[in-house]
Amino acid sequence: MLGDGLLAHLPQLLSRHCPAEHYAVITDSTVAPLYGEAAAAALRGVARATVVTFPSGEWNKTRETWAGITDRLLAAGVGRDGAIVALGGGVVGDLAGFVAASYLRGIPYIQVPTTLLAMIDSSIGGKTGVDTPAGKNLVGAFYQPRLVIADLATLATLPPNHLAAGMAEAIKHGAIADRVYYQRVHALAPRVLSGDRGALHEVVERSVTIKAGVVGEDERERGRRAILNFGHTIAHALEAVTGYTLLHGEAVAIGMAAEARLGRALGITAPEAVPTLLRTLETYGLPTRSPADADAGRLLESMRHDKKTREASVRFALLKTIGEMHREPTGEWTRTAPENAIRAAIEP
Ligand SMILES: NC(=O)c1ccc[n+]([C@@H]2O[C@H](COP(=O)([O-])OP(=O)(O)OC[C@H]3O[C@@H](n4cnc5c(N)ncnc54)[C@H](O)[C@@H]3O)[C@@H](O)[C@H]2O)c1
Ligand SMILES: [Zn+2]
Repeated sequence: MLGDGLLAHLPQLLSRHCPAEHYAVITDSTVAPLYGEAAAAALRGVARATVVTFPSGEWNKTRETWAGITDRLLAAGVGRDGAIVALGGGVVGDLAGFVAASYLRGIPYIQVPTTLLAMIDSSIGGKTGVDTPAGKNLVGAFYQPRLVIADLATLATLPPNHLAAGMAEAIKHGAIADRVYYQRVHALAPRVLSGDRGALHEVVERSVTIKAGVVGEDERERGRRAILNFGHTIAHALEAVTGYTLLHGEAVAIGMAAEARLGRALGITAPEAVPTLLRTLETYGLPTRSPADADAGRLLESMRHDKKTREASVRFALLKTIGEMHREPTGEWTRTAPENAIRAAIEP
C-alpha cells in the first residue's frame, strides 16, 4: 500500500489487515522519535502497543540485537495474539521481520518502510535476517509480512545521500527489466532529489511492481530472482571490505558500474550500456569507482566467501543491455568470470 500520509491511518489499516491484541512497534533510535512514538500512541486507541527501540546502524543488525528485542517482547508480555510493526529502514525491516519469523515460532508482522531503499527493495520479497561476523544476512528466514505500508511523507526527513542510495536500486530495476522505466528514472533525477512526492510515487510504484514481479516468479531464489543481484556480488564485497562505511546503495552503484564493465569485457554487455549506466548513476550523485582503499585482492577474497558462491566460484548476474539481463545457454541467470577480468573491472 502506497500513499502520502498513510501513517495517520495506521490504527484502521492494522485493525483491518493485521488485527492483534498487542502491537510491538520495532524501530531504531532515529525513527523512534520521528514516527515511532506517535505511531504507538495512535495504536493504543485500538490495542495495547509497545515500542521496542535499538540503536540505528547496520552494525546493530545482529543476533545480539535480535536477542535483546525478543527478551523485551517476552518481558512486555507480547503473546501469540500479538503482531509486530517493523517501522524504519531496511535494517529495522530485516531485523524485525526475523524477530517476527522466530518469536513464539512466528507471529504476524507488517512492514512500514521509512527509507526509499526499504520501500522499493527490502520490504518486498520476504527476506529477513541479521548479519554475522562472517558476512551479511547469513542468519535469517523467508517470512512474508501481512502488509507493506509505504508512506511517502516519511521520506521528507530522510537525508539526501540516503535518498540517492535508494535510487541505486531503482536504476537497477530499470536496467535489469524495463528500458522505458530506466529512461524515466534518469529523467526524474532533479525532481526525485528535491523530494518531489509525485516523482517519488512514480518510482516506488514502478520499482515495487518490478521487484514483486521477479520475486513472485521465484520466491526462494532458485532462478530468475538472481537478476536482482545485478551489481550485488561486488557491492557485498565492497561493503564488507570497507567495514560498512559505504551506504548499501552506494556500494550497489559501484557494483553495477563494475559488473557492467566486466560484462562488456566478456562480450556479454552491449558496449553502449556502460556509459549510459555511468551517466545515470552520476546524475544521482552516486559513485561508480571502488574507493582507493578497497584493493582488488581483498574484494576477490570477500566475494569468494559470499554465501551465494557455489562450488567456490564467484557468480555474476550480468547485463545484456539496458532493460534486459543476460541468460546463459543452459538457462542460468548467473555465470562465472575469469579472475583477471574481475580484477580489471573492480580496480579503483
Ligand atoms: N530483505 C531484503 O530483501 C533487503 C534488500 C535490500 C537491502 N536490505 C537491507 O537493508 C538494509 C539497508 O536499508 P536502509 O538503507 O534503509 O538502511 P537503514 O535501515 O540503516 O536506514 C538508513 C538510516 O536512515 C535512518 N532513517 C530511516 N528512516 C528515516 C526517515 N524517514 N527519516 C530520517 N532518517 C531515517 C535510519 O535510522 C538509518 O540511520 C541493509 O541491512 C540491507 O542488507 C534487505
Ligand atoms: Zn540491494
